[in-house]
Amino acid sequence: MNRRKKIVAGNWKMNLNSQQVLKLMQALNRSEQEFDCDVIVFPPFVYLVDVIDFANGGGRISVGAQNCAATENGAYTGEVSPAQLADIGVEYVLIGHSERRIYYNENHSFIADKLKCSLANNLRPVFCCGEPQIVREAGEQLTYVKQQLVESLFTLKTEEIGQVIVAYEPVWAIGTGLNASAEQAQEMHTFIRHQIAEHYSLAIANEIQILYGGSCKPGNAAELFACHDVDGGLIGGASLIAEDFLNIISLAH
Ligand code: 13P
Repeated sequence: MNRRKKIVAGNWKMNLNSQQVLKLMQALNRSEQEFDCDVIVFPPFVYLVDVIDFANGGGRISVGAQNCAATENGAYTGEVSPAQLADIGVEYVLIGHSERRIYYNENHSFIADKLKCSLANNLRPVFCCGEPQIVREAGEQLTYVKQQLVESLFTLKTEEIGQVIVAYEPVWAIGTGLNASAEQAQEMHTFIRHQIAEHYSLAIANEIQILYGGSCKPGNAAELFACHDVDGGLIGGASLIAEDFLNIISLAH
């Protein structure tokens, strides 16, 4: 066993309406289940304030945003700055999710800017990385993820990196029902931790939580979470269903 506390995080993506958010948060708050891990939810922007209120009422769920601007403030129509998110009580932010890389052309340096800007404003980034299917088929996944780390994450200073949570999310596993096997997840998570150790220090690498994401469900979470370097999960679809999300939480200890 390692000393790292597990995290189960729910990325709701662009799903749910206000009634469904209310029902989901009530179910999470009312559950008698003990949480042995940290639990974070990432709602759409428009529900952040409500979800923070619900979370404060229950006292055991933290709230993150799914995205943030790469700059502090100014004339950026439609953007939300890390300072504004922190101002309303948001604690975490997803950065570099593959859906943003693919659909919104977010590149390495833009992602690096978002990491720096969120850290400067007391938001803890969850840095997402992971290879597409074609790269996995070519057996190039380690090189691919290394580049994502080097060009974005490793631009952070030693005193910043400790605040980051990493999420390995192979693109071919996201929303497909085809999760990485425990061996595939462990291989990549060890690789990421080694890269962090080489670039920063072994002590830092041993502290950083690395989550797995991609079709993580009640049926496969126990096996994935049992891997030495898997420190919990970033859950998409299954985080929208209270029973499934609570089930996954119960497997993280
Ligand atoms: P799914 O769990 O729906 O595959 O999504 C994973 C994900 O992208 C979480 O950020």
